[in-house]
Amino acid sequence: MSDILDVDFCRSQFPLLAQTEADAYFESAGGSYVPQQVIQAMSHFMRDSQTQPEWPFAAAKRGKAQIDKAQKGIAALFNINPDELVIGPSTTLNAYVLSHALRPGMADGDAIVVTNQDHEANGGCWRRLADTGIDVREWRIDPKTGDLDPADLTPLLADGKVKLVAFPHVSNIVGSINDVAAITRQAHQAGAMVVVDGVAAVAHTLPDLVALDVDFYMFSFYKLYGPHLAMLYGKKARIDAVANQNHFFHDGNGAAMLNPGGTNYESAGAIGGILDYLDTVHDHHFDTPSNDPRSRAVQVYTLFQQQEATVMARFLAWLEARPEIRLIGRRESDPARRAATFSLDIPGHSPEALAIALAERGLCVGAGHFYGRRCVEALGIDPEIGVLRVSMVHYSTVPEVDRLTNALDALLS
Ligand SMILES: Cc1ncc(COP(=O)(O)O)c(C=O)c1O
Repeated sequence: MSDILDVDFCRSQFPLLAQTEADAYFESAGGSYVPQQVIQAMSHFMRDSQTQPEWPFAAAKRGKAQIDKAQKGIAALFNINPDELVIGPSTTLNAYVLSHALRPGMADGDAIVVTNQDHEANGGCWRRLADTGIDVREWRIDPKTGDLDPADLTPLLADGKVKLVAFPHVSNIVGSINDVAAITRQAHQAGAMVVVDGVAAVAHTLPDLVALDVDFYMFSFYKLYGPHLAMLYGKKARIDAVANQNHFFHDGNGAAMLNPGGTNYESAGAIGGILDYLDTVHDHHFDTPSNDPRSRAVQVYTLFQQQEATVMARFLAWLEARPEIRLIGRRESDPARRAATFSLDIPGHSPEALAIALAERGLCVGAGHFYGRRCVEALGIDPEIGVLRVSMVHYSTVPEVDRLTNALDALLS
């Protein structure tokens, strides 16, 4: 048993990291790399069962079995039931469909709370309901820190008209971890359901969705070492109450009502590879077997978080010596308080030009507003210019951080 993550072992599972001369990758918040287990699972599905998975013949049965196993495993990972999840094309589309599915259950004059911390995926679709008679209220970040203060939510809920609060678990710009359980309690006490965007959270923390008591929770698998596909969780009673968005004959058909167009089957099969990867990491570090995928993954995430704390601390130590750089979000390396997603506002330097110069040095960093345009604007930053975003996950290393900060020192001097 080992209580320190073997990062080299983890990296050896990712073809893009295992190359010698690999670029140092700091854009995992945009899309993480995929381990060989995911690539193999996708390839296996296409070789073994590339057909519609509902038929009685053998290839279809094999495909269905692969998808069902993957969905069961993913459901177990988040402590939910397989019939409470929708596997759709993207979080943006899942949220869009959900907004259409929930609107008929609301009356004109009912209210929805959105934040200006969210990625537009969990904002725009709700804000558009204003055109249909919904009162849309904005829960605003502190313009200095970028944080959301639950005390500012209280007056928005006071008149009892709010039916839904949409907010992020973690903002892809600010990086702070919002207290989902507490905010959910607050919303429920006011009679509102919650829709939580977990896209920027799930590579860093593994929420127990039942314990959090959320009504809906969304994330995209391509931020979790998987393919371009997304999960929408809804409590069973909430899903059963939506207005059907699928073909008329799917009315009353549970999660299918939220999945018009169905699922990309080969990608749905590939999701199982994420679980295989977590299991591989588990078995490399722990000799105590467990039949429960969630408890195995929780052990693995504990190691992931230690590694993230290490690289975060290294990066923050560098920032201490560069007081001219504005860091958005908490100056903390505690993985319970922030994700390893750092947005920087560097006076006198274009984030885009810096990202290009870093790319020339084999350092992959993103620049812009990352579709968190309202958030960037509320922070007083021109969204057309945006921020330089440095994001890390468990496979990031201290030498990579040093490569990046040395390059930044040279470019900023
Ligand atoms: C926090 C957050 N929410 C939502 C999305 C949108 O996800 P998708 O590309 O699956 O629509 C992203 C994508 O970057 C994101 O970072």
